[in-house]
Amino acid sequence: MAKIVNSWNDWDPLKRVIVGRCDNSMIPPEEPATSEKVPVDSEMRGMWGLRPAKTVERGNECLDNLVKILEDRGVVVDRPTPLQWNQAIGTPDFRNDSMMTCMPPRDILLTIGNEIMASANSFRCRYFEYLAYWPLMKQYFDEDPDFLWTQAPRPRLTDASYKHNYYDEKITLEERLVRTANKDFVTTEVEPMWDAADVMRMGKDLFIQHGLTTNRTAMDWFQRYYPEYRVHAVNFPGDPYPIHIDATFVPLRPGLIINNPHRKLPEEQRAIFEANDWQIVEAADPAHDEPPALCYSSVWLSMNCLVLDPKTVIVEASEVHQQEQMDKLGMNVIPCDLRDAYPFGGGLHCSTADVYREGDCLDYFP
Ligand code: NVA
Repeated sequence: MAKIVNSWNDWDPLKRVIVGRCDNSMIPPEEPATSEKVPVDSEMRGMWGLRPAKTVERGNECLDNLVKILEDRGVVVDRPTPLQWNQAIGTPDFRNDSMMTCMPPRDILLTIGNEIMASANSFRCRYFEYLAYWPLMKQYFDEDPDFLWTQAPRPRLTDASYKHNYYDEKITLEERLVRTANKDFVTTEVEPMWDAADVMRMGKDLFIQHGLTTNRTAMDWFQRYYPEYRVHAVNFPGDPYPIHIDATFVPLRPGLIINNPHRKLPEEQRAIFEANDWQIVEAADPAHDEPPALCYSSVWLSMNCLVLDPKTVIVEASEVHQQEQMDKLGMNVIPCDLRDAYPFGGGLHCSTADVYREGDCLDYFP
């Protein structure tokens, strides 16, 4: 029997990966967590329903194109099994009028060594998204005797999980930034809640963004679950919508990270990198002034790249500034047309989830 699952970081040579699918994707109805995350001036405020079929087709075309690039380089690619996301869902604690999508996988699956864990997301519409990955998890389980198939404690997501009226329509950007600086987010601390895309894996160290999608109780939970790792809570005070670390702080190889210049890691949190001779470089500006239509994310998906090995990176094809910077940083750049998949939940890193990267669990911060 083969070893199928192994990944300790985002840069070791990638051999097997999951790429999401846009089929049946919904713009979910408003709920306590999501309404706080849609900017007041966003065209998507108050929208709900199936995403237009043409955009789904085009998003899938982009993802298929990414699959081809990966397969041409010998990477094995697995795909999720989409559900009918337009179904209403219910648990003993809440009801929601629909689910969302199985894009992006990076938010749902966290791979640490031989374990893939389904996350504890705070959006009710994402509560059952893990089901799209269960056929793959069963396959890995059957084929790899060492694979640990895990589900993090499921949050109840009752009304007590959220601060109500946390933002109102009139809140200014400055007020949002004060909230971020004060680490005052929409989720409460009644239970651990986290998105896998808030966790940056670096061997023995996990750097986890505390923000709108991951709370402090989750950090505590991580440290107890993984006592042999060091868990670091990180914050990026310049971000008015702190969701997911991978358009903010992105490692390219051991010793090198690009940081969103509008969301700088605070001085005291930089110390561990500086003490270990890591270089934190400001990411290049995005090539676009606006995200594509019906997109929740910012233009900074420009830096949401997929590292194939410490010398090779896939960057979105239109992000010419980011490509140029990667080149100067000594990376071979593979462009990939993916912008029309952004509305489904993110860029190249978001759209994927690690299954196998060569390499072991190293201590990069001794
Ligand atoms: N909050 C992030 C999403 C990162 C995938 C952004 O829009 O910049």
